[in-house]
Amino acid sequence: MHARAVAATTTALLGAAALLLPSSAVRAAEEGEPPTVVAHRGASAYAPENTLAAVDTAARMGISWVENDVQRTKDGELVVIHDDSLQRTTDVEEVFPGRAPWKVKDFTAAEIARLDAGSWFGPSYAGARVPTLEQYVHRVERNHQKLLLEIKNPALYPGIERQTLKVLANEGWLDQEHRTSRLVVQSFSADSVRTVHELKPGVKTGILGTPSVANLSAYAAFTDQINPSHSTISPGYVATVHAFDGAHGKPLEVFAWTVNDAETARRVAGYGVDGIISNKPDVVRDATDGS
Ligand code: G3P
Ligand code: CA
Repeated sequence: MHARAVAATTTALLGAAALLLPSSAVRAAEEGEPPTVVAHRGASAYAPENTLAAVDTAARMGISWVENDVQRTKDGELVVIHDDSLQRTTDVEEVFPGRAPWKVKDFTAAEIARLDAGSWFGPSYAGARVPTLEQYVHRVERNHQKLLLEIKNPALYPGIERQTLKVLANEGWLDQEHRTSRLVVQSFSADSVRTVHELKPGVKTGILGTPSVANLSAYAAFTDQINPSHSTISPGYVATVHAFDGAHGKPLEVFAWTVNDAETARRVAGYGVDGIISNKPDVVRDATDGS
């Protein structure tokens, strides 16, 4: 373990010492860089989540980073959708009655392409589609944006890591420019993140959740970010994560989710996080002077 990590881990483990951290950590963060702002599922407070419209809305707001969720259809196409069912964010119940519970993995790409993924959000988005990963990446590229790609429910989709990397490679997203500054692949599954790292060691990765301090050393061997719910972290935890060097030799970063109001954004920025993931990225950017 790195010497900084030893010191920070010791601090984090000492309850009383950790309690002393906030004011200094907040000061340090206030003096440092503002956080990177990531549009969660696109700018999903303003446009239907995980659609091209949500990507474009983020772009119009000047938000560079967008987050999405990738899953797989019955016939093996990668699509961008959060839930493992199509029910909440499309009109699948009307178009395909009798096929409950309408799992993504039980529908072909052609069937999913028929669905309206916008009307549930608002009539002005009627006709929005569930994008394929290929369509999604095209749009992010066209908008000169950056992508925090989440492999969702990987246990349902064996081999999705290799397949995701293949699509990214085909779209030109594994060249040096994209790898170093425009792409992070994350998952709640540490095993999935490890697989991505082993297949393409040059790709930056993130582990979603709030792993125990005891696990950070092992995770740092194959990841660059630890991305927790904002409600689970403290300045001490953020400092502890930062004390480990990640897979590419830089301190592990922390991108916290999902922060949708200015007061919480300022508090979480004060913890020293590197990024904030938000349905209202404009609100977070304006509250934190982030970018
Ligand atoms: O990127 C963080 C966040 O997307 C993780 O939670 O459920 O919105 O995918 P969820
Ligand atoms: Ca997600």
